[in-house]
Amino acid sequence: MAIAAPRAADRSPDAAAARTRVAVAGATGYAGQELVRLLARHPAVTLTDAMSSGAASAPRPLPALVRIWDGAVAPLDVERLAVRADIVFLALPEAASAEVGAALLQRGVRVIDLSGAFRIRNTADRQRWYPATGALPPGVVYGLPERHAGAIRHARLVSCPGCYPTAALLALEPLAAAGLLDGALVVDAKSGISGAGKTPSERTHFSENHGSVAAYGVFSHRHAAEIEQELDRPVTFVPHLVPLDRGILETIYASVRRGTTEAQVAAALQDAYDSAPFVRLTGAALPEIKHVAYTNFCDIGWKVDEAGGRLVLIVVLDNLVKGAAGQAVQNLNVLLGLDERTGLL
Ligand SMILES: NC(=O)c1ccc[n+]([C@@H]2O[C@H](COP(=O)([O-])OP(=O)(O)OC[C@H]3O[C@@H](n4cnc5c(N)ncnc54)[C@H](OP(=O)(O)O)[C@@H]3O)[C@@H](O)[C@H]2O)c1
Repeated sequence: MAIAAPRAADRSPDAAAARTRVAVAGATGYAGQELVRLLARHPAVTLTDAMSSGAASAPRPLPALVRIWDGAVAPLDVERLAVRADIVFLALPEAASAEVGAALLQRGVRVIDLSGAFRIRNTADRQRWYPATGALPPGVVYGLPERHAGAIRHARLVSCPGCYPTAALLALEPLAAAGLLDGALVVDAKSGISGAGKTPSERTHFSENHGSVAAYGVFSHRHAAEIEQELDRPVTFVPHLVPLDRGILETIYASVRRGTTEAQVAAALQDAYDSAPFVRLTGAALPEIKHVAYTNFCDIGWKVDEAGGRLVLIVVLDNLVKGAAGQAVQNLNVLLGLDERTGLL
């Protein structure tokens, strides 16, 4: 299906008055700065506030965003957010998101959360992986826009998927729905270092990471719980840190019924993403991180061993855009009934 181009922004004073007021908490972080960059130029919203933890002296400028956004970052102030924004983006550590998200909901503000705080529906699993969250408030929707746009439109809080789950689920959900998956699933994931946020640690230190590749979180990464929740089947998930600043590549190994053809795999994915502007199906031309860096695209390629019943998928996205801020803005567009591409292309 052909997708019409989004309309140019209306920059008249009337249009400015009609814009939705949005704010970002966690604006000094990697995901938060991407949000400010996108929202400052989004034609349907006004960015009223950008806030940090307030631990460092404030107000703080964002040097990378000079001439893109001319505001200054202020310390986190939930009351101010509630008064000055219709929709608040949270790009905070999950414990802070759990607290701020619940407080904003109570004040009638809609929330788009990038953390994992509200992603896990099963109480015991949520207590294990996100113990600060407590009970899920009403109106929480898991925000993978390609799969759940109808529910996102009415959400009070959109819980954006994790960066690794976004890639895995975009590739696997249509195949599971088509009944093509049959047996073990392995998601072998590689991520650039910005996936760990801006606070340095021994693992993310340049001299540890440069010139090396390391697996981590084997059988103990909370994104495995999220992928399994959404697919409703066990998945072996092994993340690796690679010496890139940004980007994720997942190699997914799946068993399929013997005789499953390339055409069947292609048809399931094409049916799912026919009108999805940010999923690009590349088939046998396997995608690379450089094809999607700094964009909101997720590219999916695949090869099928028909006789052996084996499928390999290669999925790439930018963890800070489709894996975080871009997807959050895509969810904003869905929530506001706009073209999903508004402010993103
Ligand atoms: N990085 C990714 O690729 C990615 C992808 C998807 C989802 N996410 C999720 O998005 C969220 C933000 O990630 P990030 O990588 O951008 O993190 P980050 O670079 O570490 O930034 C964290 C932000 O939160 C603020 N903050 C820290 N502790 C706070 C507290 N107790 N109260 C209020 N604000 C606080 C920081 O402010 P200061 O500058 O004052 O410290 C900073 O603005 C996390 O939940 C993460 O899991 C990240």
